[in-house]
Amino acid sequence: MDIMEIVDEKLGKMNPAIAALVVKLARKIPYIDRKIAALAEKEYGPILDGLEDSVKPYRKRFRSIGALPVNGMKRRDILDFMKKLKNLEESRWKKGFVSGAVYHGDRGHIDFLNEAYSINSQSNPLHSDIWPSAIKYEAEIVSMTGKMLGGVTAADSSGPGKICGTVTSGGTESILLAMKTYRDRARKEKGIRRPEIVIPVTAHAAFDKAGQYFNIKIKRVPIDSSCRADIREAAKAISSNTVALVGSAPSFPHGAIDPIPELSETARKKGIGFHVDACLGGFILPWAERLGYDVPPFDFRLPGVTSISADTHKYGYAAKGTSVVLYRGEELRHYQFYKTTDWPGGLYFSPTFAGSRPGALSAACWAAMVSLGEDGYLKAAGRILKTADQIKKGIAGIPGLRILGNPLWNIAFASDELDIYRVLDFMTGLGWSLNGLHRPSCVHICVTLRHAEPGVAARFIRDLRSAVAHVKKHPSERGDMAPVYGMAATLPDRSIVSDLLDRYMDILYRV
Ligand SMILES: Cc1ncc(COP(=O)(O)O)c(C=O)c1O
Repeated sequence: MDIMEIVDEKLGKMNPAIAALVVKLARKIPYIDRKIAALAEKEYGPILDGLEDSVKPYRKRFRSIGALPVNGMKRRDILDFMKKLKNLEESRWKKGFVSGAVYHGDRGHIDFLNEAYSINSQSNPLHSDIWPSAIKYEAEIVSMTGKMLGGVTAADSSGPGKICGTVTSGGTESILLAMKTYRDRARKEKGIRRPEIVIPVTAHAAFDKAGQYFNIKIKRVPIDSSCRADIREAAKAISSNTVALVGSAPSFPHGAIDPIPELSETARKKGIGFHVDACLGGFILPWAERLGYDVPPFDFRLPGVTSISADTHKYGYAAKGTSVVLYRGEELRHYQFYKTTDWPGGLYFSPTFAGSRPGALSAACWAAMVSLGEDGYLKAAGRILKTADQIKKGIAGIPGLRILGNPLWNIAFASDELDIYRVLDFMTGLGWSLNGLHRPSCVHICVTLRHAEPGVAARFIRDLRSAVAHVKKHPSERGDMAPVYGMAATLPDRSIVSDLLDRYMDILYRV
C-alpha cells in the first residue's frame, strides 16, 4: 500500500472536516506534500491527459495560432473561420440539449441584442461624459430590477429604505461586491477585523471565492431533507464577527429556495446584512408568484433583506456579461464604490471591480428588458415552469430515480440504486450537457426557454429513461466520465482534487 492509499483509507473514515485539517497539516511537510503530488500525478495524470483531447477538439482540425501572425489575416477569412466554429457548436444548445447556459436563444432575440450591441459597441460607462447613454441604461436597469424585486426605488423615494445598486459583469461579480461591501461596512461601523459570513452549504461557489479574495471566514450551514438551509443552524452559526447571512432563491445545485423570510428575520434581529442570491431566480420568481406557483417572499418586501443579486444574463435574457447587485440604501452601496482622490491620474472612481466596461452590454441588456416588458417575462416564466412540470413528472415516473427537494425549474435528481454519474455519461453520449453535482451525487437540468420548444422535454424524458435502462442492464460498465466524477466526489484528500483543477485550468489555456 503506498502513502496515498494509506492516507486516503485513514482519511476516508474520518469526519470530513477533520480529514481536511489533517491533509492541510500533512501537506505543510514538504516530503509528504511532494510524495502526495507525485502519486496523484501518476494516478490521475493520465485521466487529465485523456480529457485534454475532449477539451481541445479543434486542435486536430484547425491550425493553432500561438503567436501573432506576421501579416494580419483577412477579415473575411477570420469571420468565415468563426462562423465555422459557431456552426459546430450552435446546434447543441439551440436544440435544447444543454442545461442552463443559453436562457433565451431565439434567433430574432439574438439578432436584436446583436444590433443593440453594435450600435453601442464603442461605449464605456467609465466615461460618463462621452457616453451618458451608457449610464442612463445602467441606472434604468438597476431601477427596473429593484422595482421588480419589491423595492421602492429612486423614482419614488429617497432615504435609507431606497433600493439602489449597480450593473455588474455577472452573478459572481455581484456576489463578490456584496460580500466586500458587508466586510467594509462592518470594519468601519463595528470595528470587525475578522469578518465572517454564514452561508448554506448549497450557496454558490462565488461566496467561497469572496471569502478567499477578501479574507472573510466562511461558516457553512447544513441543509435539511428538502435541500433548504437549516434555520436553526444558521442562527447558531452567527457570531459577533458575522457581517452577513446568505440565502439562495433558488440554489444552483438543487433549485431549492432557502427559508428566506425566516433567515431575513434572523439577520434583522441580529443587526447583520442579509444577502439573497437570486442570480438564478430574480427574473423568474416574481412572475412565478404572479402565475400562482408556490413562491415564498424572497425580496425587498422582507425588511431584513439588505441586498440581492439578480442576473440579467440568465433569465433577464440579456447577452452574457451583465448582472445586477441591489442594496437597501445608498449608505450601504457606498461601501462597494471605489474612489481615490490623490492619484496623479486625476480624481478616479469606479462603482464595480472593472475600470473600463463594455457599455454595449449594458445597452443590450436594457434593450432586452424593455423589449420583453412585464408581459414578456411573465409569458417566458410560464413556458419554462410548464416545461419543468412536465420534466419533473417524467423523472418521477422513472423507477430508480428521485428528485431532490421540491424544485420549480432547476431540477436535481439522484438514485439510490444506480450510479447516477453513469446515467449522466449515457445522456452525454446522446448529446445532452447536464450538470453533474456531488454531496450528494446527483445530476441537474436547469430548464430554459430552449427546453420549452416543442418536443424537447419529451425527448429528455425518453433519453433519460433509456439511460436508466442501460445502466440497469450493464451494472459493471465503467463509463467515460463517471469514474472522474466519482473520484472528485469521494476522494478524501481534497487538496489532490484542488491540484487537479489547477492542472485542468492549465489545459484550458494551452494552444
Ligand atoms: C444561484 C447562483 N448564484 C450565482 C451564480 C453565478 O453566476 P455567474 O456564473 O453569472 O457568475 C450562479 C450561476 O449559475 C447561480 O446559479
